[in-house]
Amino acid sequence: MTKIGVLISGSGSNLQSIIEAVKSGRIDGEITVVISNDPEAYGLTRAADNGIATRVVKHGDYLKRQDFDKELVRVLQAGGVELVVLAGFMRVVGTLLLEAFPDRVINIHPAILPAFPGTDGQAQAFNYGVKLAGCTVHFVDEKVDHGPIIIQAAVPVLAGDSKDELKARILKCEHKIFPQAIALYCAGKLRIEGRRVVITGIDETLLSEQALISCPL
Ligand code: GRF
Repeated sequence: MTKIGVLISGSGSNLQSIIEAVKSGRIDGEITVVISNDPEAYGLTRAADNGIATRVVKHGDYLKRQDFDKELVRVLQAGGVELVVLAGFMRVVGTLLLEAFPDRVINIHPAILPAFPGTDGQAQAFNYGVKLAGCTVHFVDEKVDHGPIIIQAAVPVLAGDSKDELKARILKCEHKIFPQAIALYCAGKLRIEGRRVVITGIDETLLSEQALISCPL
């Protein structure tokens, strides 16, 4: 059973979807600690309500970025963490953390990478006028929203959509593919080959017949 540490900054709805997947046995893992850089993050309440240990590590308390990272690593290692999950963690993690957890940090980004990296990917996509938006789960490397991609999902942008409606549609998808990717990791089904993540032991034959087209005829 993989020991998971989840880093959050906000509402923690992705954290909630991971908690549910652990509870139902879809993820063969255990969340040993939830860390937030914001003491007000509602995700801390979600964790505590589910009996999960919580810690606050405020980035503002550290003069140097490295010292913030060092403290994150210390707390994660104290929790015996094997997989670090960034679930709406609004800080860039540094080399120190990545070196402590090589190929063991994953992130969710609310856009189809490599398009629209950085903050507010949904708004960037909306403003650009894309017809298909979506989300990406990926391994984290030293560049922002850049590491090898595990799963992506696309959602249509509808004519009357507001930014918030699109955001909500994407978030629903995040709640599906994030636990799915974590489950695959915990089952030992992910292998990184350069930029590519190979998912072993699944039947992909159906996929080659599928396509999501934004304008059904
Ligand atoms: C999600 O949209 C995530 O992709 C982005 O921040 C949001 C976090 O939402 N990085 P929540 O805290 O999981 O509800």
